[in-house]
Amino acid sequence: MQNLNTTSMQIRDNRLWILDQQALPQRQLWCPADTVAQLVDHIRALRVRGAPLIGLSACLLLALLAEQGMGCSRLRTALETLRQARPTAVNLMNNLARMAAALDGENFAAAMVTEALRLVEEDRALCQAIADHGISLVTPGSRLLTHCNTGGLATAGIGTALGVIRQAAALGKVHQVWVDETRPLLQGGRLTAWELGELGIPYRLICDAMAAGLMARGEVDAIWVGADRIAANGDVANKIGTYSLAVLAHYHGIPFYVAAPHTTHDPHCPDGDAIPIEQRPAEEVTGVSGSFGSCRWAPEQAQVYNPAFDVTPAALISAWVLDTGIVSPAMAAAGIFRRKLATAIG
Ligand code: MRU
Repeated sequence: MQNLNTTSMQIRDNRLWILDQQALPQRQLWCPADTVAQLVDHIRALRVRGAPLIGLSACLLLALLAEQGMGCSRLRTALETLRQARPTAVNLMNNLARMAAALDGENFAAAMVTEALRLVEEDRALCQAIADHGISLVTPGSRLLTHCNTGGLATAGIGTALGVIRQAAALGKVHQVWVDETRPLLQGGRLTAWELGELGIPYRLICDAMAAGLMARGEVDAIWVGADRIAANGDVANKIGTYSLAVLAHYHGIPFYVAAPHTTHDPHCPDGDAIPIEQRPAEEVTGVSGSFGSCRWAPEQAQVYNPAFDVTPAALISAWVLDTGIVSPAMAAAGIFRRKLATAIG
């Protein structure tokens, strides 16, 4: 397969390499993902993470395996195993559905390579389209708050919510970004802070619990987040803590925007209750571990609840910024939301 380069994923010498997002920002460590077991392990450990990137990495590995001569039935098993790597981000399932269709044909290896590369190119274009639409919602001098990481690390392109912020910053519209650290795995504190630093966009890192006080003092103009799955009614599953921000934004009268590509839509989930929410290991809450070392603070016998995502109801969302355009709550109520997503998917 031809070489390929994104912020956090590469094809080099017919191998898939991923930038270890658990080692960042202390170390920039590229790890190979040569087998399904290796990639599933990377995905579960969040070395590869972010809804779009998870899906794209799975497709690229399948394409490489097909090119290396793996047979049809083993590829189908591999595809099924990858589909179950993580349950919430529907991009994985949507992308794999396209790879499954490519696998149906006679010359499936070539078809899978073409389809995987097409998905990467599409993702780049989707990010750009989201940013192009989203910048109209950013007022000059904005202080924007974001949660988790939705940038180049999480996609093949410039990102979703962070892509909008990046584009708005390039136009001089962003005064500063408030970066939620995003407990428990610190995607904001480690990854978004790193990306914004690399891009030269001014930011200040905060603990998640500080967002409410900032909003009360009028220091947040808008909140921008991504999505792991958008239900048919517009409810959104995203990184744990997103719902708290939406409630706070509603209380303080601050716009709350969700930026996502159509590959994040799931027409089979009527609402947020139907979205499967991943439960993560207790150790992520009882302490921290990473390339900086590890430490446990909770008592040995502490019982833990650790959902990776929560659901923000559509009623709290000021607009969905999709690659197909901006959907307002009034448009969503009139059913235009479903049509926009259906158009994108069709
Ligand atoms: O558990 P993660 O780090 O994969 O969660 C990622 C998020 O929740 C992102 O906001 C979402 O995937 C959108 S990334 C463009």
